[in-house]
Amino acid sequence: MVAIRTNEYELIVAKPFAPNLGAEIYGVDLSQTVPDDQFAEIHDAFLKYQVLFFKEQKEIPPEQHVIFGKRFGPLHAHPAAPTMVGHPEIFEIHATKDSKIANGEFWHSDVSCDETPPLGTMLQIHIAPQCGGDTMFSDMYAAYDDLSQPIKTMIDGLSALHTSEHIYKGRYSDRGKQDADINCPEAVHPVVRTHPDTGKKSLFVNRTFTTRILGLTESESDAVLKLLFEHAEHIRYQIRFRWALNDMAFWDNRCCMHRAIWDYWPEERKGRRVTVKGDRPV
Ligand code: SIN
Repeated sequence: MVAIRTNEYELIVAKPFAPNLGAEIYGVDLSQTVPDDQFAEIHDAFLKYQVLFFKEQKEIPPEQHVIFGKRFGPLHAHPAAPTMVGHPEIFEIHATKDSKIANGEFWHSDVSCDETPPLGTMLQIHIAPQCGGDTMFSDMYAAYDDLSQPIKTMIDGLSALHTSEHIYKGRYSDRGKQDADINCPEAVHPVVRTHPDTGKKSLFVNRTFTTRILGLTESESDAVLKLLFEHAEHIRYQIRFRWALNDMAFWDNRCCMHRAIWDYWPEERKGRRVTVKGDRPV
C-alpha cells in the first residue's frame, strides 16, 4: 500500500522529493523577509530533508539572499570563486559557451577542505538552459548506515586529509579571476562525522577534495577511498533535481553531497550562491 503523507507543517508546504532525501517547499516568498515562525518550520524541514527546493520563487534580491543566509549563521567566504559585483558574500555560478569548466561537476560537499566547512549552501538559478543543468544530491546518512559493521568499525576512528590546490588553482581564470596568490585550504576531518543538530552519523569523504586517509599506507588509503567514494555515489542514495527558473535549493553539506551536470553546452546557466559557515566536523 502506498503511504499518503499529509503536510506536517502549518506555515509551509513540504512535499517529499524522494523517499531518501529532499523536499519541495511551497508557500514561502524568499524575496521578502521570512517571518520567524515560518523560518522555524523551514529550519526544521532543512534538518529533516537535508536539501530543500523552494519552488514558485521570484528572483531574490541579493541583499535579501544574504539576509536569509545569515539567519542560519555567519556566512562562509569561498577561497577562490568569483563573487557578484557589489556583493562579496555572493558566489556567482556561471557557465556559457566560452566556459572551460562548470562548477561542481564532481561529487563533493562544498569546500570540505576548510577547517570549518560550510553548514549549507543556498543557490538560486536565474538563467537556466532549455533543458538539462540538473543537480544531483546524495544522502550521506544512508550511505553510512548501509555500511557493514566491520567497515564501520574500521573507518569510525579514521581521519582524512581534504585538499584544494588541485581544484582551485586556475579554476576561474576563464572568468577573469587571478589566483596565483590564493590560499588553497586543506584540513583533516573525521571520515565519519556526527551532525551537530540531528546527532546522526554520516560519511564525510568526497572525490573532489578528500585525497588521503591518515594512518594508512598510500595503497591502503587509495583502496579504502575508492571503496567509500563508489559506495557514497551509489544510485540508491541519489536524487536528481531539475531546476525551474528562480528555484532556490538549500542543501546541508554536513550530511549530503552534490554534483552539477554540465550537459547543456553551449547554452548558458547562471545562479547566485550564498554559503553558511559550519562547525569543525566531529
Ligand atoms: C555547486 O555549488 O557545487 C554547483 C551546483 C550547481 O551549479 O547546481
